[in-house]
Amino acid sequence: MNRKRTAILISGRGSNMTALIEAARDARYPAEIALVLSNRPDAAGLQRAAEAGIATAIVDHKAYGKDRAAFEHALQEVLTAHRIELVCLAGFMRILTAWFVAQWPERMLNIHPALLPAFKGLDTHRRALEAGVREHGATVHFVVPEMDSGPIIARARVPVLPDDTEDALAARVLAMEHRIYPLALKLVASGRVRVSDGRCVIAGPCEDEDALFLPGLIKKPR
Ligand code: GRF
Repeated sequence: MNRKRTAILISGRGSNMTALIEAARDARYPAEIALVLSNRPDAAGLQRAAEAGIATAIVDHKAYGKDRAAFEHALQEVLTAHRIELVCLAGFMRILTAWFVAQWPERMLNIHPALLPAFKGLDTHRRALEAGVREHGATVHFVVPEMDSGPIIARARVPVLPDDTEDALAARVLAMEHRIYPLALKLVASGRVRVSDGRCVIAGPCEDEDALFLPGLIKKPR
């Protein structure tokens, strides 16, 4: 099997990164994590990646000041040097320009802690509580120039409970993030996701458990 060489871009603790690394330990998983790249030298995830035996790199955005183009060219150079085929943003806290996004059409994924298109941007859990929604969740989508938009690959719902705090809700969502990100990367890396009219179409049967997160997916034949 030709496993897709995947880079994970992080800025912080990297728990989604860890979930992807764990999934890719299985030789049958269609992506291999070839690189973890951080824009922050102090990101805790870097050490976790190194401990897992994954190559790491730092492109410190501060070194480029306001020159976003130069920062992104540096990112792209590292990704090219590592022969990366897919990119997963996992808590990567830089806004990417249309130029960078155009380097990775339908090959760059992001995870967002809300049920997109609701609650784009930051502080999603606080805003969900303030809005009084009964359900919340997480979304994996392809990256397009507009932030937290782009074709949706998988979503997971969680209930919002009456006495929820921001932290309790965040923890419930995060546990689901760790399940849907590996699933979404698996689908993309195995070539089962195609974008049609701005929407993801997923080919083939899926495991019953996965069907929970993939609305509209063809059910496994009996
Ligand atoms: C996650 O909540 C993710 O959805 C958001 O940033 C957070 C990153 O957490 N984009 P971690 O670094 O993966 O633990």
